[in-house]
Amino acid sequence: MTPRLTQKLVINEVGQESAIFNKKWQATYIAPLQPPTLATFRSWGSSAGAGRVRPAKTNVRKFLLYSWLKLVGFCLDHRVVKRLYLQQPQIIIMKFFIDTANLNQIKEAHELGILDGVTTNPSLMAKEGIKGNDAITQHYKTICEMVDGDISAEVISTTFNEIVEEGKKLAAIHPNIVVKVPMIKDGVKAIKWFTDNGIRTNCTLVFSAGQAILCAKAGAAYVSPFIGRIDDSGWEGVQLVEQIKHIYTVQGYKTQVLAASIRSPNHIVRCAEAGADVCTCPLESILGLLKHPLTDIGLAKFLEDAKKTV
Ligand code: G3P
Repeated sequence: MTPRLTQKLVINEVGQESAIFNKKWQATYIAPLQPPTLATFRSWGSSAGAGRVRPAKTNVRKFLLYSWLKLVGFCLDHRVVKRLYLQQPQIIIMKFFIDTANLNQIKEAHELGILDGVTTNPSLMAKEGIKGNDAITQHYKTICEMVDGDISAEVISTTFNEIVEEGKKLAAIHPNIVVKVPMIKDGVKAIKWFTDNGIRTNCTLVFSAGQAILCAKAGAAYVSPFIGRIDDSGWEGVQLVEQIKHIYTVQGYKTQVLAASIRSPNHIVRCAEAGADVCTCPLESILGLLKHPLTDIGLAKFLEDAKKTV
């Protein structure tokens, strides 16, 4: 590449002398600052390149330093870093929680070997006939002993002070307890308080991206969008999971998206596609993932044919 300065010097009135000076100037200062090709390096080291002007060592150093600074500057440009980061596919291995307070179902899912945690709510506790503080506490203890993973225990208070008091008691039951707090004004305040005091929370009853932003801002460990109930109201629950995931990625929120109110195996598949961090499901939906008629037909045929090989 001939610099413009070279051309100017060539056509100047001093003529030949200028041209020689220019050639030397170019070889000494410009050439070493161009990225050297492999052939250039080879020619420096061979007898064929002996007669050529080699770049001064200082110029090589300058060139390397210049390239290095350019590279560092490029990498430190936050827009570039952010873009590269966002383009990286995030590695998510969706966790499976079971959404029940039924000990037999928890045991069955746990024995399948795929269970990462449990979520409960007051309706699920009532369904199992768990009544009174002592029985509730004992029930959570039992679940924590059965499953080594996060266990969501929901508060039934709705004012800030009461949520905090109740949540502190629930969190004291076991280190794996995550306090489940409803998406209400005092709930958000309480989530912030719990975050500041080292208690993990799961913000429940989330039906919009705006609610999800608030609970992430307050520092919830999990946000629970209710997929099935959104579907029930004529909207698309899984789309909310996608939207929240997108917002959290763009904004860098650490809150995990826990898809709740799962009603079918297809919900689980679609939540995995949408990038949910966790899917909390009834046992029926988890077991539904196993089923395919062609698997049953194929297995029956294999077993039948196997008899011929005995
Ligand atoms: O975790 C919340 C979930 O249990 C709600 O499910 O089926 O009652 O909408 P569902």
